[in-house]
Amino acid sequence: MAMPTKTVEIVPGIIWVGAEDWQRRLFDSLIPLPYGTSYNAYLVVGREKAALIDTVSADFEEELLTKIAGTLEPERLDYVVMNHAEPDHAGAIPQVMAAAPNARLVVTRKGAEMAETFYHVPEARRLVVKDGDTIDLGGKTLRFIEAPWLHWPETMFTFAVEDRVLFPGDFFGSHIASDSLFDDEVGDILLPEAKRYYAEIMMPFTRMVAAGLDKAIAVEAKTIAPSHGPVYRNPGRIIDAYERWARGPLAKKALVVYVSMWGSTQRLAQAITGAISAEGVEAVPYDLTVADISHVARDLVDASCIVVGSPTVLGGPHPQMAYALTLVKALRPRGKLAAYFGSYGWGGGAASQVKGVLEPAGFEIVEALEIKGPPGERELESAAHLGRDVARRVKESLGSGKGKA
Ligand code: FEO
Repeated sequence: MAMPTKTVEIVPGIIWVGAEDWQRRLFDSLIPLPYGTSYNAYLVVGREKAALIDTVSADFEEELLTKIAGTLEPERLDYVVMNHAEPDHAGAIPQVMAAAPNARLVVTRKGAEMAETFYHVPEARRLVVKDGDTIDLGGKTLRFIEAPWLHWPETMFTFAVEDRVLFPGDFFGSHIASDSLFDDEVGDILLPEAKRYYAEIMMPFTRMVAAGLDKAIAVEAKTIAPSHGPVYRNPGRIIDAYERWARGPLAKKALVVYVSMWGSTQRLAQAITGAISAEGVEAVPYDLTVADISHVARDLVDASCIVVGSPTVLGGPHPQMAYALTLVKALRPRGKLAAYFGSYGWGGGAASQVKGVLEPAGFEIVEALEIKGPPGERELESAAHLGRDVARRVKESLGSGKGKA
């Protein structure tokens, strides 16, 4: 297949020169990519100077350099802006810096360390900027906005002042490869995918997300051009979504996330799910043996409660549940109500270990139910009771404001 050469002019003098990675199916060896992803890089060409904003994953450096050359020879680049040091955007920095011998790499102070560690960019070729610093390209001014922990400590936004284009790096991104660049061209998958991306990349840093959101809103961008997925020429769409996900009220929703070996824990899960739903609270069951864990993560963005169910296996929770709990803890969802249920054959132990993970992570355990063997009528009624208690606590938490942003 011939190497793609398509570029897209977002506004006069600002050109998308990134790469679509249609085949990639896993990100960070963790996140499923059903729609692939993209590595967006942007060329900003002023009257006197030119800058490249971010690069691409190292496998795509030749494509990037070819696309840049469609507008200007790479050796004419004066600046390469590194909004983020993760290799999906910065992996091609060594090749670009070699092709552009006069260019300096624009980085935050923390980014400078990372540029040296990851990409061996010498100090003489680095230009450290701080919040509010600008570079004049001749009729196009780039302003740098420090926005740490979105999603590494060195991250920053770049703002093209005259054109009001914001380049926020990972922030506002989504893992979608598409032949269409703009938000209104990719159809209904956009916001669900942006939410899934938010859950996995941004949710662990809710406080920094709020700060970044304020900074993004303050510049009143006409266009938001993130490092993954579509460019928003309707920026209100993604700003409003981030407002909801980061600071909006939680939903009247509980997840029932479980794994079962011989059906006992599954029957409890069914009783619990039914009882929660019957009380007017949305109940979303996930069987971890078949569920996409990233969908659990996406639902955690606005769920009020997570109910986890696991049999006891070798004295603890099933390994699938241990993995899910590690992820839940790391993602730090805002909803902090939890409940536990499960079955054991001859000796329990999963319940106390689940509690030992969730409570230190700030979750309040509403109720726990651990039964011996398959559930009978009495145990199923206990499960339904747990479900009703979960529903009541969810409603109370929303009514009282607890659990809201
Ligand atoms: Fe898209 Fe944090 O890299």
